Amino acid sequence: RTKCEKDETKMCVEMLASNNLVTFDGLANSSAYHTFLLDEEKGRLVVGAKDHIFSFNLLNISKDYAQISWPASPTRRDECKWAGKDLSRECSNFIKVLQPFNQTHLYVCGTGAFHPVCSYLEVGKKPEDSVFRLEPHVENGRGKSPYDPKFLLLVLLDGELYAGTSADFMGRDFAIFRTLGKHHPIRTEQHDSRWLNDPRFVGVHLIPESDNPEDDKIYLFFRENAMDGEHVGKATHARIGQLCKNDLGGHRSLVNKWTTFLKARLICSVPGSNGIDTHFDELQDVFLMSTKDPKSPVIYAVFTTSSNIFKGSAVCMYSMTDIRRVFLGPYAHRDGPNYQWVPFQGRVPYPRPGTCPSKTFGGFDTTKDLPDEVVTFARSHPAMFNPVYPINNRPIIVKTDVDYQFTQIVVDKVEAEDGQYDVMFIGTDIGTILKVVSIPRGSWHDLEEVLLEEMTVFREPTAIKAMELSTKQQQLYLGSDIGVSQMPLHRCEVYGKACAECCLARDPYCAWDGTECSRYFPMAKRRTRRQDIRNGDPLTQCSDLQHHDELNGQMTLLDKTVYGVENSSTFLECNPKSQRALTYWQYQRSFDDHKQEIRSDERFIRTEQGLLIRTLHKKDSGIYLCQAVEHGFMQTLLKVTLEVIDTNRLEELLHHDEEAAASAPAQDLPSTPSHKLWYRDFLSLVNHPTLNSVDEFCEQVWKRERKHRKQKAHLVQQVQIHQQQQQQQQQKGVVNPHTHMHAQGLAAKWKHLQERQKGRNRRTHELERAPRSV
Ligand SMILES: *[C@@H]1O[C@H](CO)[C@@H](O)[C@H](O)[C@H]1NC(C)=O
Ligand SMILES: *[C@@H]1O[C@H](CO)[C@@H](O)[C@H](O)[C@H]1NC(C)=O
Ligand SMILES: *[C@@H]1O[C@H](CO)[C@@H](O)[C@H](O)[C@H]1NC(C)=O
Ligand SMILES: *[C@@H]1O[C@H](CO)[C@@H](O)[C@H](O)[C@H]1NC(C)=O
Repeated sequence: RTKCEKDETKMCVEMLASNNLVTFDGLANSSAYHTFLLDEEKGRLVVGAKDHIFSFNLLNISKDYAQISWPASPTRRDECKWAGKDLSRECSNFIKVLQPFNQTHLYVCGTGAFHPVCSYLEVGKKPEDSVFRLEPHVENGRGKSPYDPKFLLLVLLDGELYAGTSADFMGRDFAIFRTLGKHHPIRTEQHDSRWLNDPRFVGVHLIPESDNPEDDKIYLFFRENAMDGEHVGKATHARIGQLCKNDLGGHRSLVNKWTTFLKARLICSVPGSNGIDTHFDELQDVFLMSTKDPKSPVIYAVFTTSSNIFKGSAVCMYSMTDIRRVFLGPYAHRDGPNYQWVPFQGRVPYPRPGTCPSKTFGGFDTTKDLPDEVVTFARSHPAMFNPVYPINNRPIIVKTDVDYQFTQIVVDKVEAEDGQYDVMFIGTDIGTILKVVSIPRGSWHDLEEVLLEEMTVFREPTAIKAMELSTKQQQLYLGSDIGVSQMPLHRCEVYGKACAECCLARDPYCAWDGTECSRYFPMAKRRTRRQDIRNGDPLTQCSDLQHHDELNGQMTLLDKTVYGVENSSTFLECNPKSQRALTYWQYQRSFDDHKQEIRSDERFIRTEQGLLIRTLHKKDSGIYLCQAVEHGFMQTLLKVTLEVIDTNRLEELLHHDEEAAASAPAQDLPSTPSHKLWYRDFLSLVNHPTLNSVDEFCEQVWKRERKHRKQKAHLVQQVQIHQQQQQQQQQKGVVNPHTHMHAQGLAAKWKHLQERQKGRNRRTHELERAPRSV
């Protein structure tokens, strides 16, 4: 439903356009648009890709962008190739580092065809400067950029560059480095799998520990192989690592190595039915959501599973309180290779390893003054025994049994009428974005996740590898192998034309302003704004507006009559605008008859878009009610009166009508109220207003040829002529056998047209919901 099929590229492009999406399709000689730097002040998005750096306009990325080509030299490419690397995939300069350096320059590094290089990129001071120039001077990028483009490197610059990367050509020596700045470079202990065991880094962040900057810590998020003896067999574990920003290494041992490095496992799991937890261990991305207290951001983390059989993704939330508690808890300890890991019970040396040298917690000015026993202990106890559990001990989102996995996350804090909400934008490996809001049901311990939108943002299924959100522009920027896309954070207009629908959508960005569903601004105190994110209760929000809606002809209920031909199928379209509304269908033989729920069977098929009735029977005639239920609020979206006509009857009627004029009215057609009426209905059927508007929509969206419409107009005309002819004949009292044949042909033709139309409508819905004409 969300994928753009290759053979339907045109449709897909149109669909992307209708989502207000702007795409940059990439250069033929580049790829891997994975490194993003958002500069809201200058209004630019700088993107690092294969052999190129781009600068996009945040307003519209396709408008005026600048590009710099920075390929690896032919010599480096040859060397890379001789070393057995893949020329096209690895022997290029993949830009992996883009960091603000000073007021005018960015620091940039690339893999340089397995020979990391760094330089400075001039971007100017003010937006008007419009400078975009790479300094010709190139530095060695060892310990700053990875060799291998596969190995993501993440850095944080504060005069100093923190990087989790591989430091050798073979990609075996992984380390956390600190380079640049005034201090000697520092790194993690080499060749000790207790410290790092084939890690893949996904995030680096500075989080203050107290009001004293001496206590500032760097937290690293990564996944790695479980430590020897930590797990039976091979397993991946998600980790959070900590370091002191002012760590200068040890004096006698751990010289130029971190002395404050500690790591803990991050758990994200759900209990299984068999009592065994399902673990999501493949950490993919983290996002830190700031709170009022800078010491306590909320950590959002995206995980997938390691299993080949079971494909799943999850989002877990962690609190800094829980993380700090684990780092203050027992260290993981074992007496030798054949022993189990146990919590360390002995005496922990002072100052406790992991504590930053500062005036807050002790009299140490620098890690070089740490007692030997502290450094020795730190070297052999880098891991904590207890893992960090997520808030509420379970994921906030779990997605299994789908053919995609999560790759990226960004979160936006949205101010709504009834409080603040975190809206998550989750990228997938098939080029889609899920927009999800978590709403407290009673308390923060009981959250409800509401899927607001699911959008395709690239032409082809491709993994989302980079995501940046601009609050200023209210846009989201997305990177993949094939290009860059830009989408708005909200499209309130898709939630329909009624207050209740806007309200039920529960999108904190949107509210009902009296006439339409539009962007909600908390500052603009307008009395007419209707919004209720927490409960999504339109009864309290919209009841007084119902009348207003009716006056404007915007009442949600549709009341129509549909004709079906016996033994053919018909589709009753009913499409709630809210993604979460549950629809169900009721059937009533006549107005005063009792309603009964329609259950799916081989003839009645309930789809997301409506009800498909196959092989119509005469007894299917009656009233069909489409109900949408959400939050105990039931809305009748549609009332359809279905009349089933059999083809024989059609001929009979046409024929009979001819005879009726000649002889007495027939006694054998008690269920048909009037033959004359039937003619009119037959015409209104061909001329069906709703079919027309759906048709128009399709043509507008898919730009299909208008041939089909012409055909129908022609048919209507023919029927009218036929009718006139018959009336003339009735007056003359003549029965013309040719007219009869003609009517039969028309009926068959109409049936065929109707089938085609239904087929087409269904295709339309597979890609994008059609706006319902009300
Ligand atoms: C890639 O192609 C663009 C033109 O589309 C050109 O400007 C650029 O220099 C090329 N880059 C490399 C590395 O050859
Ligand atoms: C972005 O710019 C392109 C090219 O100038 C234009 O076709 C498109 O309509 C613009 N899109 C938006 C959303 O402004
Ligand atoms: C920023 O750094 C670059 C590279 O070292 C240097 O050339 C430039 O003069 C610096 N700019 C400022 C404003 O300090
Ligand atoms: C409808 O199908 C039934 C069973 O297949 C058949 O007996 C009947 O003649 C068909 N009616 C029409 C009008 O085609």
